[in-house]
Amino acid sequence: MPLLIWNEELETGIDVIDQQHKRIVELINQLNLVSKGKADGNVGDVLAELVDYTLSHFVFEEELMEEAGYPFSKAHKRVHDIFTARVNEYKMRFDAGEDVTDALRDMLSRWLFNHIKGDDKAYARVVKRHLERTTSWQPRPRRPWYARLFGT
Ligand SMILES: [Fe+2]
Repeated sequence: MPLLIWNEELETGIDVIDQQHKRIVELINQLNLVSKGKADGNVGDVLAELVDYTLSHFVFEEELMEEAGYPFSKAHKRVHDIFTARVNEYKMRFDAGEDVTDALRDMLSRWLFNHIKGDDKAYARVVKRHLERTTSWQPRPRRPWYARLFGT
């Protein structure tokens, strides 16, 4: 499977979200390379980071949508929850010794691009307006996902 290429169709116009989406794409590509032996690293480590980062990103997005008063944030969260359950299932199978890397990577990449182009773009206008109004907006540092997404 070819590497995923970021394109402007995937931009939500919300910088903090676009950066996180790009990082997820980067991790999927890294998983692809490592699993094919084309890059150094351990498949399990990359997989764990990809899953952890993606799930942290979901929580971040959900809080932001809710804070912005996006009317479909609950429905969006349900989509994340279904996807999270699927990812965890793959992760458990991997931990049990099954080689799920190709299947997980394909599922993730297909799902991610569709999700960004559809569901994520749908909240962009409302969230963007919210962020523009609240110029002092900062991610809340005590949240568990903070270190994962912002590296402190
Ligand atoms: Fe989302």
